[in-house]
Amino acid sequence: MDKFRPVLIYKKNEDCPVFFHEFYEKDVFLNMFSVIVGSSFRFKDLQNKYRGTMQRDIKHLLNPALQNIATYKVEGGQQAEIKLNQNESPFDLPMWLKEEIISEFIKESWNRYPDILPYRGMKSYADFLGISPDSVMMSNGSNEMLYTIFLACLGPGRKVLIPDPSFSLYEKIALLLQSRIVSVPMLPGLDFDTDAILRAARDEKVDFIVLSTPNNPTGKSLSFDEVRLIAQSCDAIVLVDEAYIEFSRQRSVLELIDGLPNLVVLRTMSKALALAGIRIGFAIANPTLMAELAKPKIPFASSRLAEITLTHVLANYSLVNDAVSFILHERDKLYSELLTLDGLEPFLSDTNFLIIRLKDAGAVFKNLQSEGILVRNVSGYNLMDNCLRFNVGLVEENRRLIEKLRSI
Ligand SMILES: Cc1ncc(COP(=O)(O)O)c(C=O)c1O
Repeated sequence: MDKFRPVLIYKKNEDCPVFFHEFYEKDVFLNMFSVIVGSSFRFKDLQNKYRGTMQRDIKHLLNPALQNIATYKVEGGQQAEIKLNQNESPFDLPMWLKEEIISEFIKESWNRYPDILPYRGMKSYADFLGISPDSVMMSNGSNEMLYTIFLACLGPGRKVLIPDPSFSLYEKIALLLQSRIVSVPMLPGLDFDTDAILRAARDEKVDFIVLSTPNNPTGKSLSFDEVRLIAQSCDAIVLVDEAYIEFSRQRSVLELIDGLPNLVVLRTMSKALALAGIRIGFAIANPTLMAELAKPKIPFASSRLAEITLTHVLANYSLVNDAVSFILHERDKLYSELLTLDGLEPFLSDTNFLIIRLKDAGAVFKNLQSEGILVRNVSGYNLMDNCLRFNVGLVEENRRLIEKLRSI
């Protein structure tokens, strides 16, 4: 029997798979020929019988919320000569550090599950922050943590306040969980409207507030005092997504978790720490809230590699500090240069990316793309018509971007 293995053949324009056997030896094939021909007829009958079932509309069998959400896509893809569309760090880890990480990873048992929760990684990050490990939860990217926290806070009939525009995943998860979204528009210059947030939270009695600050895609921040005021005065869980905090002029609200039992801070290692490919995120809250938020967490979601990588990068944090200094310097340089260009308006940013408004963002996006420069067209977001977003790249990448924008 081990001379042949079953394969699945999908015939063009037919919905039903036909099961066949792939033979390695001719005589086995000849011996079995009649059996196969016979069984293929039987499969044909089954195929005909069930074709109707396969072709009928199956959408009503699924979560109705799927009708309101779209598959996540990155316009223009993820490959480019100059890739500035996902707010990543332009610096990969140095080879000596990767080798150090891999040589430790090689000693691990790859056949064994990691810990249910990545306690080693959580301990490393807690030590790095100088807080207790039971205030910290690690995830497979902060996106995974967003799903976990939203599951813990939302459900049918519950209400979430989301400033608009914000990171698109918030709305998607809230819709999936059939929760009501209370959208609070940013001000016309893309800044947060703190008064409107406070008013809407009170009037709508929201259960959950999600603040991306500094915010993707606008690049604007709430101040420390504004976040504190919102968390203090609202009877809601307040999630503060600090994905870009290392680039911000504002200080983190992490120090408030002891005094504010409803506050959760979200961090990612994908931006300043340059680990987007390894997938590491964290939530930080007081231990009582954290114990509840952790209940829907997917077990074993973080790999041993992620835990080891994190520990090594935190032990070499001067690399991160250097990268952040470079990015901030280049961001300011880019902003000054953008101010000198005709036909576009740059927005001051508190992140590792910049927003510009042009006459025809779609055309400029394509033009840049044809030159191998991939940026993000964020024109579809509320208040951001004709806007493009691009993260700070290497010196030469930034220079080529400016040169191209100048010539358009
Ligand atoms: C505001 C914000 N939060 C969370 C994330 C997700 O980051 P990751 O899943 O890579 O940790 C992103 C990614 O761009 C983001 O912009």
